Amino acid sequence: MTSNADITNAAAIIRAGGLVVMPTETVYGLAADATNDDAVAKIFEAKGRPRFNPLICHVADAEMAAHYVVVPPLAQKLIDAFWPGPLTLVLPRRADAKLSLLVSAGLDTAAVRAPGHDSARALIRAADRPLAAPSANRSGRISPTTAQHVREGQLLIEPDAIIDGGPCRVGIESTIVKVDGDIATLLRPGGAAREEIERVIGAPLNSPPQADKPLAPGMLASHYAPRATLRLNAAHAEAGEAFLGFGDITGHIKGEDASAAMNLSEASDMREAAANLFRYLRTLDERCQTLGLTAIAVAPIPRDGLGEAINDRLTRAAAPRG
Ligand code: TXA
Ligand code: MG
Repeated sequence: MTSNADITNAAAIIRAGGLVVMPTETVYGLAADATNDDAVAKIFEAKGRPRFNPLICHVADAEMAAHYVVVPPLAQKLIDAFWPGPLTLVLPRRADAKLSLLVSAGLDTAAVRAPGHDSARALIRAADRPLAAPSANRSGRISPTTAQHVREGQLLIEPDAIIDGGPCRVGIESTIVKVDGDIATLLRPGGAAREEIERVIGAPLNSPPQADKPLAPGMLASHYAPRATLRLNAAHAEAGEAFLGFGDITGHIKGEDASAAMNLSEASDMREAAANLFRYLRTLDERCQTLGLTAIAVAPIPRDGLGEAINDRLTRAAAPRG
């Protein structure tokens, strides 16, 4: 593992789709290009996360954030008061946002924050793009607050570089607030105190609908579900179905024209499949509408590596909706 990479070198790694561990004021983050699906898939692989939680996109400042999300006046107020710093805002994605769909797990919102650490903002500026970064630990382990913790943290993929920025000043994750028009909801308590946030907005923060489980905001968000029905573990598409394949799908599409079939990864590569998942689901869903198809048949996906998270996501998308 590289130690103490300089910013220019680390930015080049980011632009090439690599993984860089960066210091922030809260915890060390495992950063990758938030506009690159394959790079974001690598983050999930390195952490061994069993599901695709949406990730925070780290930006240099408010101006950069405004390229990717819609910032209502209430959010701007919070940005002015807290950025750079430990406050993450969940805001609507702009329709033209060049952000990976995987980074927000198919949601139409994205989480953004400007970290209060000079090296982190320097890296974002040098890479000239937002950086997706969860804490730089393997899933289920404690968030690292020193570069040494990261080296001991047993990520499943070696980062291409580690920027050592000393011990994290705040030491706990950022506070996450979702802003929906003029309503602000606390999704995760963290480094920015609730009282300070409430003082800035001049009103109490709302609590998420399931206040008994406030620590898993990704789980609280209503995830993108296609309009078409999903039929999982399908050997092939029946008439009237689109097909989402994996691996060799020769002869698996019956009756439908080839535009209603897509392959997550011809080479059976899990990372490629994860990178394509949300985009292909959307595309097939749209084709179902156009072609008058009612269902998407999905080929069996093995459960190794990122396959677990892919299957988790597909199972949710296939579940009956209320
Ligand atoms: O301090 C921090 O926030 C650290 C440093 C590295 O910046 N990062 C961090 O990331 O804690 P992570 O991935 O461990 O937590 C991100 C949280 C998740 O709980 C996720 O569910 C939530 O943010 N989140 C991200 N996007 C969201 C969205 N669009 N809607 C709701 N929740 C979202
Ligand atoms: Mg974490």
